[in-house]
Amino acid sequence: MDLDLSGKRALVCGASQGLGEACARQLAQQGAEVVVLARTAEKLERVCQTLAAEQGQAHSYIAVDASDTPALAAAVAAELENGPLHIWVNNTGGPAPGPASAAAPEAYANAFGQHLIAAQTLLQLLLPGMRSAGYGRILNVLSTSVKAPIPNLGVSNSIRAAMANWAKTLAGELAVDGITVNNVLPGLTQTARLDSLMAHIADTSGRSVEQVAEGMRAGIPVRRFGEPEEFANAVGFLASPAAAFINGINLPVDGGSTGSL
Ligand SMILES: NC(=O)c1ccc[n+]([C@@H]2O[C@H](COP(=O)([O-])OP(=O)(O)OC[C@H]3O[C@@H](n4cnc5c(N)ncnc54)[C@H](OP(=O)(O)O)[C@@H]3O)[C@@H](O)[C@H]2O)c1
Repeated sequence: MDLDLSGKRALVCGASQGLGEACARQLAQQGAEVVVLARTAEKLERVCQTLAAEQGQAHSYIAVDASDTPALAAAVAAELENGPLHIWVNNTGGPAPGPASAAAPEAYANAFGQHLIAAQTLLQLLLPGMRSAGYGRILNVLSTSVKAPIPNLGVSNSIRAAMANWAKTLAGELAVDGITVNNVLPGLTQTARLDSLMAHIADTSGRSVEQVAEGMRAGIPVRRFGEPEEFANAVGFLASPAAAFINGINLPVDGGSTGSL
């Protein structure tokens, strides 16, 4: 099975911690040169320094807010001067929790900007290089809410659905050029995002964080949270030459917790 990414360059967004950081680590291990992107330069610099570079890769970072579309476009366009980016892990922070009915209209507009508008901006910058290389792997980090909406994540559920249909449409358009588009759907995975969600539920329910965590683990058939590296394993496979015939899927990495096919 060909998992080798040497000679390939990868852009991993939301990579200063959590799932994005784990994906950057996995892709670098497979030989890719990785550009990590998020808002916090110090964290990104630290991540860069820890990525595998046995094949002489020169990893780098872009510190930018993905909701500032002009700044995002300028920073990624400048990076493309160094060569095409063949692999794109499209990831960013999740919207704040809360019921759909209570969210301010602006919360939906902001999520649309940070997720879909940012994604479309990056897509149009990255496509020419992927097309001329005849190799593209677009991996969208979404959520299992694409398959079954999650209570109390109203804005998130809505924007993930929009992203999933954007991706499925692109999968049909781009495969002819050697570019695949797939969605990887994290279940409950041990990151700062999960910690803040559990703290929010504890605050609003009067339970302790440990009680909340216990309740969540009980709903996962494997009875534990995922590790970021387990999510990154799926991304590393889908980014590789071995996954060339897999296109347009939603892959849950959730320990079996999603109650639908
Ligand atoms: N962990 C889970 O259990 C789980 C489950 C389902 C879905 N998800 C979703 O999967 C994604 C990644 O999850 P995670 O747990 O790794 O989240 P996380 O720990 O909160 O990490 C989010 C990453 O995105 C970056 N980011 C946030 N806002 C940004 C912005 N405006 N511009 C650029 N970068 C931004 C953050 O870095 P900076 O703060 O430095 O910008 C960080 O690197 C999120 O969308 C999350 O909602 C996670």
